Amino acid sequence: MENEKILVIDFGGQYNQLIARRVRECGVYCEIYSYKKDLDEVLAMHPKGIIFTGGPNSVYDPASATYTAEIFKAGIPILGICYGAQLMSHLLGGRVDHAPVREYGKIEVSVDNTSPLFEGIRAQTICWMSHNDYIAEMAPGFRAIAHSDHCPYAAVEDSSRKLYGVQFHPEVLHTQEGTKMLSNFVYHVCGCAGDWKMSDFVEQSIRQLRETVGDKQVVLGLSGGVDSSVVAALLSRAIGSQLTCIFVDHGLLRKNEADEVEAVFGPKGNFDLNFIRVDASARFYRKLRFATEPEHKRKIIGKQFVRVFEETAAGLDHPDFLAQGTIYPDVVESGLGGESATIKSHHNVGGLPKHTRFKGLIEPLRYLFKDEVRQVGLQLGLPESLIYRQPFPGPGLGIRIIGRITPEKVQLVQEADAIWREELLAAGLGSQINQYFAALTNMRSVGVMGDERTYDYAIALRAVTTQDFMTAEAAEIPWELLSRVTNRIVNEVPHVNRVFYDCTGKPPATVEYE
Ligand code: XMP
Repeated sequence: MENEKILVIDFGGQYNQLIARRVRECGVYCEIYSYKKDLDEVLAMHPKGIIFTGGPNSVYDPASATYTAEIFKAGIPILGICYGAQLMSHLLGGRVDHAPVREYGKIEVSVDNTSPLFEGIRAQTICWMSHNDYIAEMAPGFRAIAHSDHCPYAAVEDSSRKLYGVQFHPEVLHTQEGTKMLSNFVYHVCGCAGDWKMSDFVEQSIRQLRETVGDKQVVLGLSGGVDSSVVAALLSRAIGSQLTCIFVDHGLLRKNEADEVEAVFGPKGNFDLNFIRVDASARFYRKLRFATEPEHKRKIIGKQFVRVFEETAAGLDHPDFLAQGTIYPDVVESGLGGESATIKSHHNVGGLPKHTRFKGLIEPLRYLFKDEVRQVGLQLGLPESLIYRQPFPGPGLGIRIIGRITPEKVQLVQEADAIWREELLAAGLGSQINQYFAALTNMRSVGVMGDERTYDYAIALRAVTTQDFMTAEAAEIPWELLSRVTNRIVNEVPHVNRVFYDCTGKPPATVEYE
């Protein structure tokens, strides 16, 4: 990447990806690295500025994450946030102590507007605090540029060395003018020009991909989700028909979904590439026919998915590269980027699968956040319905059919789900609800239809609002809409005689049923 960049040195705080996102929102490229990254490597990247993140530790605990104080002599502007500010003070000869009053939440902070960090910021501004320790004595050369009732050094600066520290979290939106403060740091302290634009990224990536691939062939597993679709579109622009996309239809997709993917990427779509659609539904249904336990189903689906992909790729004429839709949160969460590592092996980040025939891995989105991936997709002409589609799990309807899966049950849940989605969209609720779908409970019960007794299935309708899918609330749906959907489902979908709306949040439930 040729752009000017800001580096985030990650000390394990929970908001660290947010810092990088906010910096990029300011138009400046930003990457996250663990505090274990050597200073030499950091300097070799020629950062315009460095941000030390928050972290869970106390600086006076000898086992805490730290960094060499040599970094402060490199002449690079540094902003320390929370733990990062404490660490900077500690390493430069200040004193960090347990705060007599712990501050948590939205706190009013008084700032000194003569500091470039606070240019254009209100004299009293609300900031998000979350700390047990604080800077009790500033390091030599620093002056206080902000304070709160209980924190005399809520922000400090040494303008001659361009070193800054803030006790609060500017990256969190509860800090009302936080983005402006980060913008002040990157523009007024670091002197960035702001050359990070999505259109540049697209052009740069296309150039780089052409260089890397040359006249070789690339194969990509296309799922129809946002990430792999954007990779397909980008590679198609760069290398056209040297790209082959393999789309495995496991028979557990939503109604018409496979045709929709084909309409965009197939021969009648707008992208120059080779598209192979593999209808593997019979194979998946066969392998799944005795499976009832959720994790067992997931394993079967995952394993068969890889097998079908590999078998299809083996039939191609020796592709050299495997492309993947890895995005930046996958990289950071895999422990390769930052420090806040929850290892997720399924992301398969950073290396080729074992025993592979491929010579190289291509991950053009590995430095982008999800919203940036969406912007790239829109620039490349992908339809909005695809870019803003709700998340859909890899195992698909397999984990929305409780218990045993049969082709008949798949069709039944597809039909009910299509009605639910259609009605929610028609009611204008689509953009307010983060995920919505129908699931098939494994319950059958007695009903009456005409003069006949029935013994049929119950459908559960799910609709949740959530920030991050870690917790979620059931959406409030107008009764009239629920009753219209219920009538349509029991009338239009054979073998369904009851419809439930799931009012449970997460926790205690999960979003999916299995
Ligand atoms: P849960 O059910 O865990 O879902 O509350 C949270 C989010 O994760 C998605 N999800 C999955 N995605 N493979 C995936 O690719 C899976 O096995 C899987 N399980 C859940 C779910 O759709 C929701 O967005």
